[in-house]
Amino acid sequence: MTMLPKLTWTPWPAGLTHDRWASAAKSLRRRGRVVLLHGADMPRDQCAAWCQSVREAGLIAGISVDIHDVATFLPEVAAWGPLLLVLQLGRGDRPQLTEALASLARDRCPTLRWTTLGVPRCWLGGATADLELQDHAWPDDLRCTSCAERGQCPGPVGEPPVLPRPVAVSNQFDVVLGEHGELALEIAGERCRGAILGATDSAVMAQALDRGQLYLDRSDVARIDDFSEQIQLLLPDGAGVWRPAAGQPFDREEAALRQVIAGLRGLVVDVGAGPVRYLGQLRSALQSGQLRYLAVEPDPQHLARSQTALPEGQFVRGVGEFLPLPDACADAVLWLRSWNHLGDPHRAVAEALRVARPGATLLIVDNVAFGLARRPEQLQRAHAIAVAETPFEHFRNDCATEALQVVRQVAGNGVEVVQIQDVELGTSNQWLLQLRVTPPGRILE
Ligand SMILES: C[S@@+](CC[C@H](N)C(=O)[O-])C[C@H]1O[C@@H](n2cnc3c(N)ncnc32)[C@H](O)[C@@H]1O
Repeated sequence: MTMLPKLTWTPWPAGLTHDRWASAAKSLRRRGRVVLLHGADMPRDQCAAWCQSVREAGLIAGISVDIHDVATFLPEVAAWGPLLLVLQLGRGDRPQLTEALASLARDRCPTLRWTTLGVPRCWLGGATADLELQDHAWPDDLRCTSCAERGQCPGPVGEPPVLPRPVAVSNQFDVVLGEHGELALEIAGERCRGAILGATDSAVMAQALDRGQLYLDRSDVARIDDFSEQIQLLLPDGAGVWRPAAGQPFDREEAALRQVIAGLRGLVVDVGAGPVRYLGQLRSALQSGQLRYLAVEPDPQHLARSQTALPEGQFVRGVGEFLPLPDACADAVLWLRSWNHLGDPHRAVAEALRVARPGATLLIVDNVAFGLARRPEQLQRAHAIAVAETPFEHFRNDCATEALQVVRQVAGNGVEVVQIQDVELGTSNQWLLQLRVTPPGRILE
């Protein structure tokens, strides 16, 4: 069977550098022979480096300075096999090129097929972050329903870019309950002492205790999750004795968070979505078409499970530092407990600002370090598993004010604070920072 040449074109994204293309090119090669052409507007200093990266990826590069060159060049290369053509075109060039292609197909190259869609996302993996698809209507484009590869596309093949990882830190330390220790506690009316254990930085532990972030582990299981109902906040009284506080520790902070999520509309990008916890708040707006939900998550297992739990959503493998989205398309960007997992939060904020529309919501929620008070047998059981299996996954223990500093360093006054709920005595260790992107909405790096 003769494979029909396929021609795909996309406007050349502004600011795209050859490094990013090098990774795109490698991804493209998996699809067979590919020809990349670029137009005259490419900055001269990038041109040589770009050609080099194309050659290193084993591709064939041609340079077209004029769309009429394409018309001359195409009949020959189209006979070589599947063809991807990426062109930098002014908007005015588009009809002209389309006409040139139509006449080529009619007169000289009857096997030629083309589409005016952008490059299929799945071809480019992580590098799609750089492809502006603004000519293409949402939501079809995002869903790939009108993509030329529909039905043949192997699905996402790209790996998220490998990012430099800072040194990971723990966000938890233990306080073992017994007769000795620095802390005085009263649990179920009984006085005891708590000894602070752990390899974590003592300044982090002191800060957590200053903020009243000590919890009593009431569970019988070896590993508790972040929102276990089996942990209870301990608070120091005026005399420095720690006692269990009434109620579920996360109720208030979770209610505030649910309220913000329930009010979101438009395209919501959930960075580091993990297991997608807020289905109840998302579903009705999703079903009524007022909300579109896109999860960007590096962990394929989370993605697969979440896709099953929320089939109305869209799930893309990626990282917050390189969002696979065009500029100014998102109405909200969320980092729900993923902020302190970001290798490069500055880069992630710049990406969020790039994809956010003016007026969009940025919502950052995370936890600061906390202590868990446990009986010796609970501690032993937990450590048998946790130490062996759970590497530290946090790179920071930022609180809301620290996260705001990072955002300000990138965005300056390009965002305004809608609400900030930081961690303090009497709150849980979960904080919330809600921001609004102010017009003009794009803060360039
Ligand atoms: C503690 S989980 C939070 C999951 C979920 N958002 C929630 O609220 O429960 C942190 C998530 O961040 C993801 N993550 C880690 N590094 C990331 C990065 N650079 N960009 C985006 N997500 C990342 C992890 O895979 C994980 O799913």
